[in-house]
Amino acid sequence: MPTPSPSRPSPLRTRIAIIGAGPAGLLLAQLLARQGVESVILENRSRDYVEARLRAGILEQGTVDVLTGAGVGDRLHREGLRHDGIYLQWPGHREHLDFAALCGRSVWAYGQTEVVKDLIDARLADGQHLEFEVADVSLHEVESDRPRVTYTDSGGVARELECDAIAGCDGFHGPSRDAVPASLSGAWERTYPYAWLGILADVPPSTDELIYAWHSDGFALHSMRSPTVSRLYLQVAPEENVADWSDDRIWSALADRFALDGWTLESGPVLEKSVLPMRSFVSSPMRHGNLFLAGDAAHIVPPTGAKGLNLAVSDVTVLARALTDLLVQSDRTRADAYSETALRRVWRATHFSWWMTSMLHTSGDGFDALLQLSQLHYVATSPAAAASLAENYTGMPMEL
Ligand code: FAD
Ligand code: PHB
Repeated sequence: MPTPSPSRPSPLRTRIAIIGAGPAGLLLAQLLARQGVESVILENRSRDYVEARLRAGILEQGTVDVLTGAGVGDRLHREGLRHDGIYLQWPGHREHLDFAALCGRSVWAYGQTEVVKDLIDARLADGQHLEFEVADVSLHEVESDRPRVTYTDSGGVARELECDAIAGCDGFHGPSRDAVPASLSGAWERTYPYAWLGILADVPPSTDELIYAWHSDGFALHSMRSPTVSRLYLQVAPEENVADWSDDRIWSALADRFALDGWTLESGPVLEKSVLPMRSFVSSPMRHGNLFLAGDAAHIVPPTGAKGLNLAVSDVTVLARALTDLLVQSDRTRADAYSETALRRVWRATHFSWWMTSMLHTSGDGFDALLQLSQLHYVATSPAAAASLAENYTGMPMEL
């Protein structure tokens, strides 16, 4: 046997190589570990960065059930805020949609940062393999039974990881999607002529449930992270410079857009502010050979429907079963159906997110505005229309 050179140690071997330690990669690893399937997670950012990355905040009932079943629901059940509805607002009106009555399901306000921390804690407590700050991740021979991932570890050593399958959970900008030959994949995209300016504020929420507000100046959303921390968003132009938005300007715009007789928006110190672009994107198929894409690596939705994180969770719930069948029972049925099964839910969420976005964001066109106001009135007064919003918002049942 040749002695391995110090700069290229002999290959590591695992069953599933998971690229990305976002919610998709971390949860997939957790679900596989509970079925006795070993994996390695490779993440290019630091643990601190991944745990602090401020993103989604609303978990569907099915997401909560999956996290609970995966053994990472304790803190979520202690600290998460159960919401049984939302408010839809337009000038002079704030109408409550009661999800519990409309579809018998709820959602939970619990930040993506917390989901990620819980999953990393569980992974490391079990002594499972998770590498941060890797670089140069590259996928090889994904069509074969022995795909490989090469990378440079945090100490600068070039490594090779052999596996049975690769899970591309590396978000929209990761390398996995590009490993599917362009001739075999299709991509569908919609960019929107607006963005969100989001703030995290050290102030108790001024509302018990989320407020989605249509206003002629633009959409506004009042969400929350805890009984003492609020998360709020304003529709702005995509090219908006966050430096042009002082805290006072933000609070004043929020107060205008949420204005309602007898109600006051409490303001407080702004802890973070940033502008988020909005797009819909679906890449299909979500599988090529022994490479399986999940979460933002395969699709992006605008945040208006609160679906991005939830879709990542449903993808990997389906994928964990498929990979367990494949590796433990040599049964390919679910693996062969993975892309089609996941894409059905992805397109439903893509439609819902596009629909919520189109109903609530102002374009400046008077005809559009009157159609939106008619639609809002219809959703708030028709039990059938309200039930449709409620079942999509709380999440369609997962197809396993
Ligand atoms: P990600 O969370 O993106 O995780 C991918 C992981 O892969 C990351 O940790 C990344 O660092 C890692 N990675 C990338 N490249 C490499 C590489 N080369 N090598 C190794 N690792 C790599 N959704 C909502 O529902 N509501 C929101 O308010 C909301 N806000 C958002 C704000 C922003 C700025 C963004 C980008 C997304 C937001 N989303 C929101 C969407 C939601 O956060 C995502 O859908 C969710 O994070 C998807 O999880 P994921 O694990 O698929 O991808
Ligand atoms: C959030 O809390 O960040 C949030 C909530 C609901 C959305 C989007 C974002 O639709």
